[in-house]
Amino acid sequence: MAKAMILSFLAAFAAVANAGPREKQQASRNCQELTVPVSISARNGVFNYKVPTNNVEVTDFILNLAEPGKNYSEALLEGYTTVSGTYSIAATYCEPAAGAGNTLQVLTHGVGFNRSYWDFPTNDYNYSYVDAALARGYSTFAYDRLGLGQSSHGDPLSEIQAFLEIAALRELTTMLRDTALPGVDIHYPKIVHVGHSFGSVHTYALTVMYPSISDGIALTGFSQNLQFGPYFLFAGNAIEANNFSDALKAYPDGYLASGDESAVHTQFFAPGMFDPKVLAAATATQQPATVGELLTISGLTLANNTFAGPVLVITGERDIPDCGGNCYATTPSIPAMVEPYFNHPPSNFTAVVVPGAGHGLNLDYSHPFTYKTIQDFFDANV
Ligand SMILES: *[C@@H]1O[C@H](CO)[C@@H](O)[C@H](O)[C@H]1NC(C)=O
Ligand SMILES: *[C@@H]1O[C@H](CO)[C@@H](O)[C@H](O)[C@H]1NC(C)=O
Ligand SMILES: *[C@@H]1O[C@H](CO)[C@@H](O)[C@H](O)[C@H]1NC(C)=O
Ligand SMILES: *[C@@H]1O[C@H](CO)[C@@H](O)[C@H](O)[C@H]1NC(C)=O
Ligand SMILES: *[C@@H]1O[C@H](CO)[C@@H](O)[C@H](O)[C@H]1NC(C)=O
Ligand SMILES: *[C@@H]1O[C@H](CO)[C@@H](O)[C@H](O)[C@H]1NC(C)=O
Repeated sequence: MAKAMILSFLAAFAAVANAGPREKQQASRNCQELTVPVSISARNGVFNYKVPTNNVEVTDFILNLAEPGKNYSEALLEGYTTVSGTYSIAATYCEPAAGAGNTLQVLTHGVGFNRSYWDFPTNDYNYSYVDAALARGYSTFAYDRLGLGQSSHGDPLSEIQAFLEIAALRELTTMLRDTALPGVDIHYPKIVHVGHSFGSVHTYALTVMYPSISDGIALTGFSQNLQFGPYFLFAGNAIEANNFSDALKAYPDGYLASGDESAVHTQFFAPGMFDPKVLAAATATQQPATVGELLTISGLTLANNTFAGPVLVITGERDIPDCGGNCYATTPSIPAMVEPYFNHPPSNFTAVVVPGAGHGLNLDYSHPFTYKTIQDFFDANV
C-alpha cells in the first residue's frame, strides 16, 4: 500500500515535471468526473406536434416558432402532464488544490454546448472558467444539462423540456446542500449558481420557484428582452443534429443543431473578438437543442422574482439573442432592465455589459474581464 502510494506519488511528480499545460493545470486542481442519479418529476407541456423527421420540417418549425405576433408554443399546447423518472446526470466537480473554501459554484451551460463550455479545451484551456473560479478559492460543479452530452437523453418533445431540466437543477442543488451527492463530501455553507444563456434562464426560473435555494446568482448571456429570440433562431440555420456530424448521430430526430460554422459564428461570436480556432472547435463539438426545449424556453423568464440574494447580470455588448447585437440600443442598457423583476429586492443587483463581446462570453477574447467580474461580485456580496 505504502509502496504503491510512493510509486503513484513519484509518477505524479514525474508527470508534473514533464508537464504540458494540461498536466500543470490538473496538478493545481482536484477534479472528479461524476455520474449522479436523480429522481425527479415536473409538469411538462403536452404539445400537438410531431417531431420533425427531416431538415425541411426543421426549418418549418423554426419559421413557426419565430413568427412575430404569434405564440407557436401556445398554439400547440394541449395541456400539461407530470413526467417523472430517474435520470443520470454527468458532472465535473473541482476543488482548488489548496483545499475547498466556503462556496461552491453550480454551473449550468446553455444551448449549443455541454459542460466543457466552463472548461473549454482549445488553446490549452486558456478559456477555462473553472480555473478562474478555482484560482479565487471557489469550488465548481459543472454538469451536462438533462437530455444532453453524457447525461441521460430522452424524448425531445414530451420529456426534454425546460421544466424537467429545472427539476434536475433543483435536485442537484438540494443534494449538494444536504451533502448527499456521491463524490462531493464537503458541506458548503454557500452555494451560488452561474448560468449561460438557456442555463441562465434555468437559473432565473430556479430562483423564481425556490427563492431561498441559492446564495447568489450570476446570469451570463441573459436579458428579458424576448424580441431578439428570432434573430438567434434564424441565424442557427438549424438541421437535425443527427445530420450534422457522426458525433451527434446517436441523437434522435427532434434534437436540432446549428447548420454550419457561420451559424455558430452569428449566434455566439462578435466581430473581431474571437480566435477562429475557437469558433471551429465550438462548431465541431456543438451539442443540440430539443424541440421541447425550444417550445418551453421562455417559461418563467418574465415572471417576477422574489430572490433576495445578490444578482449579477453580465452580457456581451454585441449579444444577438439578448440584445439583438447592441445592448446599448436602449437607456438603461437591455441587461440593466432586468432589475425591476427582482422586486423583493435583491441584496445587490449589478448589470454589466462586456465591451464588444458576443453571446458566448467564455469563448470571447474578453473572458478574463468576464471571469474577474463574476468572482469579484461573489467575493463582495456572498
Ligand atoms: C407562449 O405561450 C406559452 C404557453 O402558454 C407561455 O408559457 C409563454 O410565456 C408564451 N410566450 C410568450 C413570449 O408570451
Ligand atoms: C445529411 O443529410 C444529407 C441529405 O440526406 C446527406 O447527404 C448527408 O450525408 C447527411 N450528413 C450527415 C453527417 O449525416
Ligand atoms: C463535450 O462534447 C465534446 C464533443 O462531443 C466532447 O469532445 C467532450 O469530451 C465533451 N465534454 C465532456 C466533459 O464530456
Ligand atoms: C411584476 O411586479 C410588478 C410590480 O413590481 C407588476 O407591475 C407586474 O405586473 C408584475 N409582473 C408579473 C408578470 O407578475
Ligand atoms: C489567452 O487569453 C488571453 C485573453 O484573451 C489572450 O490575451 C491570450 O492571447 C490567450 N492565449 C492563448 C494561448 O490563446
Ligand atoms: C454591488 O456589488 C458590486 C461588486 O461587484 C459593488 O461594486 C457595488 O458597489 C455593490 N452595490 C451596492 C449597492 O452595494
